[in-house]
Formats: sequence, C-alpha cells, structure tokens
Amino acid sequence: MSTNPKKRSSRARPGHRPGESVRVLISNARVKQRLRQLGEEIRRDFPTEPLHLIGVLKGSVFFLADLARELGGEVSFDFLSVSSYGSGTDSTGEVKLIKDLDVSIEGRTVIVVEDILDTGLTLKYLLRFFEEKKPKHLRVVVLLDKVERRIADVHADYTGFPIPNEFVVGYGLDYDERYRNLPDVCVLQFGSRAKSKSGYRA
Ligand code: PRP
Repeated sequence: MSTNPKKRSSRARPGHRPGESVRVLISNARVKQRLRQLGEEIRRDFPTEPLHLIGVLKGSVFFLADLARELGGEVSFDFLSVSSYGSGTDSTGEVKLIKDLDVSIEGRTVIVVEDILDTGLTLKYLLRFFEEKKPKHLRVVVLLDKVERRIADVHADYTGFPIPNEFVVGYGLDYDERYRNLPDVCVLQFGSRAKSKSGYRA
C-alpha cells in the first residue's frame, strides 16, 4: 500500500466480511449521468411546479440528495420510513409504517423517491397511503427496477435503470445495514462466487 496520501484512492473501501464480495454493476459516474436526465424528464413534466420530494428511508438518501440537486426550481423534501424487509436478502412482504411524514402533502406535487422497486409491495402500500392525503400530483421515481421480481401491479413514472434479479448494495442500498456507503451500485456475492468477479478486493 502506498504511504503517499496523494496516491491513495479518495474512495473508502467497502467493509467486507469474510465470504462476501462486491462487483460494480452501475458506476457512480453512470448514476450521476442518469440523474441529470431524470431531473430533466421530471422538470419537462412539471416545468414551473414546486416539487415536494418524499424519500423512503433509508435506501433513498443518496439518490434523493443527488436528484434534488439536478432539479432546478423550487424543491422541498420530506422522508418517511417503512419496513418491508428483515435483516437478510429476502422480503417478508409485510409493510409497516415506522416514521410518518413531517408535513402535509395535500395539494402539492409529490415525487416519491425510492432506491429500488422489487416486488412492488412497498410501493403499493405507499401509493395508497399518499393518495389518501390528496396531493395535486403523485409521481414515483426509482433508481433501480427489478422488473422480473414484481408481484404488485405498480410501476414507476421515472426509472433510472432496469436491473437483473441480483442482490444489489451500495449508493444507499444495504445488506444487513452494511455497504450503503459504497459510491457505486454493486452486486453482492457470497462464498466462492465472491472470488471470481470481485470489483473491490477484501
Ligand atoms: C427497500 C427499498 C424499498 C423496498 C422495495 O427497502 O427501499 O422501500 O425495499 O421492495 P419491494 O418492492 O419488494 O417492496 P428496505 O426494506 O430494504 O429498507 P431500506 O431502504 O432501509 O434498506
């Protein structure tokens, strides 16, 4: 390892545990490029409206923060938290409200910001929850869409990237609360598979 700080990577390395490894699926540069386009798409649909972004904790934090800065005009945001997953890689399908909104969305143009659309059960719950609160417009933007996993009949109005059915971490997404701080969207690999295509080395 270099002792010259200027030669070190400016990016922190992931906190691996033995048997886990990650490979980059979508680089941070590609994410940022796509966010510029998403910002333009959203603003094309709502050129002058104040936009109220609602981030679904915790996975959407980096996505919302970066997307908000790609949207010109008046933007505000709020967060809520629901739980649909246990601590592993499988969804239980149960959705529970953990943290409610801070302010009313009645009459506002609301953009729900989700990191990933998987079975769609969370989004189905959220859409019903938000619609009852009578926003002027209700739209959904997701960074990642695992189309083949869908159970509920829901869709996003704006999608960053359709992705295959692999377990993804990074750029806000976690495995057991770890890996959220990876700058790129990565595939998490376990066991012997972890050794082959690792983009980051443990
Ligand atoms: C993820 C994601 C969505 C949900 C999507 O949240 O942020 O809210 O799962 O899954 P679904 O389409 O199958 O319902 P998660 O429960 O992992 O919480 P987190 O954002 O705090 O990591």
